[in-house]
Amino acid sequence: MAEVQNKRVILKHQLSGIMKETDFEIVVGSVKLGVGDASNAVLVKNLYLSCDPYQRTILTTPGSPVPGFGVGKVVSSSHPGFEQGDLVWGMTSWEEYSLIIEPKLLFKVEHADMPLSFYTGLLGMPGFTSYIGFFETGAPKKGETVYVSAASGAVGQLVGQFAKLHGCYVVGSAGSKEKVDILKEKFGFDDAFNYKEEPDLDAAIKRCLPDGIDIYFENVGGKMLDAVLPNMKIGGRIVVCGMISQYNLDSHEGVRNLMHLILKSIRMEGFRVLDHTHLHPKFLEMVIPHIKEGRITYLEDFAEGLENGPAALVGLFHGHNVGKQVVVVSRE
Ligand SMILES: NC(=O)c1ccc[n+]([C@@H]2O[C@H](COP(=O)([O-])OP(=O)(O)OC[C@H]3O[C@@H](n4cnc5c(N)ncnc54)[C@H](OP(=O)(O)O)[C@@H]3O)[C@@H](O)[C@H]2O)c1
Repeated sequence: MAEVQNKRVILKHQLSGIMKETDFEIVVGSVKLGVGDASNAVLVKNLYLSCDPYQRTILTTPGSPVPGFGVGKVVSSSHPGFEQGDLVWGMTSWEEYSLIIEPKLLFKVEHADMPLSFYTGLLGMPGFTSYIGFFETGAPKKGETVYVSAASGAVGQLVGQFAKLHGCYVVGSAGSKEKVDILKEKFGFDDAFNYKEEPDLDAAIKRCLPDGIDIYFENVGGKMLDAVLPNMKIGGRIVVCGMISQYNLDSHEGVRNLMHLILKSIRMEGFRVLDHTHLHPKFLEMVIPHIKEGRITYLEDFAEGLENGPAALVGLFHGHNVGKQVVVVSRE
């Protein structure tokens, strides 16, 4: 069986505090271009890898390649659901080739006419997260007010566009002027603010949403959640998608304003997108016509080469990404 080089991004040691590029190393090994005796295994050549905030919370095994979502091409398979040449997306590892023994979270690319990298973002896990969080958990109604934090990222940019298509008034926050301009000019948010330049988050929210918030799409947690709670309307919903401001902290920040949940009959509900995979086809059915007919746009931020993966992943926690952060392993 032929053998080729396999470059990998390895977690060097247990993480502590803020993740750094030096927590990772690039090693070069080799891989046999076949699944061998393994039954139900798939050997995938990774093409695009996805940088996602949750990876900070699952990076627990030093010496192993970084686990994560990606898009690739099947090189060899003993699994009845996949054959050589299939384009696939799902759970893989940060290396040139991955032998996936139990491909439970591996799916065929159904719409190969779309850019393949979209399966790391718009059509893959983050885009699907926007759909489940906004429509299933948020239960939006036309005319409602929606506030999205980390609004220019992989999930947030799509939540804002879904909310506009649904007839809502949408405000987003992000961490730079460039991102705020993108929210308003590219994604059609009604208003937006740079939370890093607001000395008083409560005042910033009141300025943009003087009558209050019906749906808060929570991506960051911490101080932002505390500022949002008093600004919620009666019967509001807080969709707890993520809390990126907490992932690098050894001890999580507290929340002071939870009493507003009672005073205003607010429903605050978390969700895990992977509990809803049966709805992914329905999501694609809804989103693809919007993309093809130009009603939805998607911004991607490409880091070229596996070597640049650690910096791209770490950069998520400093707001370096503008749009969905993708690592390009190979474009073929
Ligand atoms: N529930 C689920 O199943 C599920 C699935 C996928 C994702 N998520 C969650 O969804 C959220 C968004 O994920 P994503 O993939 O779309 O990431 P992303 O927004 O593309 O990237 C992360 C962004 O978060 C912002 N950020 C970083 N540190 C921050 C801090 N301390 N305070 C405030 N903002 C901070 C940065 O943007 P700024 O420049 O704006 O600061 C950064 O660009 C994350 O919390 C993630 O864990 C949940």
